Amino acid sequence: MDRYAVIGNPIRHSVSPRIHGMFAAQTGEALRYEAILAPRDGFAATAGAFFEAGGRGLNVTLPFKQEACRWVLARSPRAERAGAVNTIALRGPGQTFGDNTDGSGLLRDLSLNHGARIKDRTVLILGAGGAVRGVLGPLLEAAPQRLVIANRTKERAEALCAEFADLGPVQACGLAELAGERFELIINGTSAGITGEVPALPDTVLKSQGWCYDMFYAAQPTAFVRWGLAHGAKKALDGLGMLVEQAAEAFCIWRGMRPDTAAVLRALRSG
Ligand code: ATR
Repeated sequence: MDRYAVIGNPIRHSVSPRIHGMFAAQTGEALRYEAILAPRDGFAATAGAFFEAGGRGLNVTLPFKQEACRWVLARSPRAERAGAVNTIALRGPGQTFGDNTDGSGLLRDLSLNHGARIKDRTVLILGAGGAVRGVLGPLLEAAPQRLVIANRTKERAEALCAEFADLGPVQACGLAELAGERFELIINGTSAGITGEVPALPDTVLKSQGWCYDMFYAAQPTAFVRWGLAHGAKKALDGLGMLVEQAAEAFCIWRGMRPDTAAVLRALRSG
């Protein structure tokens, strides 16, 4: 049976084995998908051993996405641009190919699953770490009227902004500078939700009827989803849809067929 896995640290709570198990059952593909814990300083050794033992593909999660981008032999333009790899496929013996399906997963969830339009909208993205870096390219390609990256540490937002400025109208600021600004879509890409926190935002930053999207996902409504609902969001979505869509795209890269994500999302939402 072809072997796949998600590699990260920590990895115990990963939903990916369940998602890919459902994709395999649905498509009739004979594959096994497991979760692998790699030591923080052991990504290369663990990933290398997996492929040497006959593994066919890996998903990469925190904290290894940037290291994976340097480790693979070749990478897609979107992985190159993100500087991060979340999917590794084998193109021949030892021929590791890195791709990044996070941005496309976010865009597919927003537009196909929820009917959002990004084109000509004002969009705010919170955070300037690996999660945000992975989705900036596809977001800018969707042609928003403006995209503002706001981060607690302003300098990190500015550095990201400079790196992506050639793709569209992107600006950077600190959280305090959002006073007086209004956006139609706010995407949370910070890790604040892990401890149940929300970045310090002005109460008026979400436009009336605006949308909130949390790239973070938890079994209960996340802190940012609750913030959105408390601030009048028309929709406040968590990142489960993005997780399933990025997985579907990885599955497609490996197996050449796109699974039905709606059925899998329904099953995951019902517990
Ligand atoms: P990741 O790869 O998950 O993005 P990261 O590189 O550590 O992880 O980035 C975490 C992001 O969440 C950063 O933008 C961080 O802000 P700083 O750059 O100022 O550290 C942001 N973040 C984490 N906790 C936060 C909080 N309580 N409020 C606001 N931003 C927070």
